[in-house]
Amino acid sequence: VEPAVPAKPLPVAELHLHIEGTLQPELIFALAERNGIELPYSGLDELREKYEFTDLQSFLDLYYANMAVLRTEQDFADMTRAYLERAAAAGVRHAEIMMDPQAHLSRGISLEACVSGVASVLATSEDEFGISTILIAAFLRDLPEESALEVLDQLLAMDAPIGAIGLDSAEVGNPPSKFERLYAKAREAGLRLTAHAGEEGPASYIYEALDILGVERIDHGIRCMDDPELVERLVDARVPLTVCPLSNVRLRAVDTLADHPLPAMLAAGLNVSVNSDDPAYFGGYVDDNFAQLTAVFELSDFDKARLAANSIHSSFATEERKAELV
Ligand code: ADE
Ligand code: ZN
Repeated sequence: VEPAVPAKPLPVAELHLHIEGTLQPELIFALAERNGIELPYSGLDELREKYEFTDLQSFLDLYYANMAVLRTEQDFADMTRAYLERAAAAGVRHAEIMMDPQAHLSRGISLEACVSGVASVLATSEDEFGISTILIAAFLRDLPEESALEVLDQLLAMDAPIGAIGLDSAEVGNPPSKFERLYAKAREAGLRLTAHAGEEGPASYIYEALDILGVERIDHGIRCMDDPELVERLVDARVPLTVCPLSNVRLRAVDTLADHPLPAMLAAGLNVSVNSDDPAYFGGYVDDNFAQLTAVFELSDFDKARLAANSIHSSFATEERKAELV
């Protein structure tokens, strides 16, 4: 009898990950204690009971509330290190990490503290964890464009080590077209461009992200399946869609994992990858997403290899780094 060897995870790139969404309940309590913050939960169990979401907004309410424990540069560094350790075990070899600077500025945290805390750990990630990284400044679409423009200016003025911008938070009612000037400015500054579109919002938001913002990649994008013409365009242009299956289930964008459009998206020839979004909130990291997909859909090794290759080719890594990873 062969000894059971744990399956080595496929090397993948994680392209859709909010660093604030990696704050595990245990770390929330540890940081609260370190910072003398009183949490509105009696303990871990009471906090864990809150992780029952009905839609995107019900999650966002808890996600923003829990950020209260992030006060110092060290807090941001500890959160980032914990993610990279776990991601390495999941087989992640390249990570493009979003952070929400406006969610920290509005709480009185300096841009320096949040950016340096995350970036200082990313700087040594390839040596320490074998994970190359790119930091993405994500802007909150439920705030005015003026706020995003101001923060982008500040990030550029401080020469923050960001490689791209993204657009997140409450989607419906905040279409990509609201951020045309932000994306023009970021493009001019040489930044790569991505945006959440078609998570809860309609397929028309995906067109807007492509045509008005000029994004290179769409975060989520599952609602493209409502629009066959859009699917054809996305297939022809090989537009990457960073899909987050467990997130979609937990936020009720789909009823169950068995109802997830990922297999149909693969069959349609879309350039999809598998990502964890906010793994501390949605019940799993990239390896957990793959494991649950495999259990429900009997994904073939060929499908899994294609998803992994898509993630690497769709990244903003250098061609040199991509060649090392495939
Ligand atoms: N911010 C963090 N996670 C998000 C998601 N899944 N959608 C929109 N904004 C987010
Ligand atoms: Zn997201």
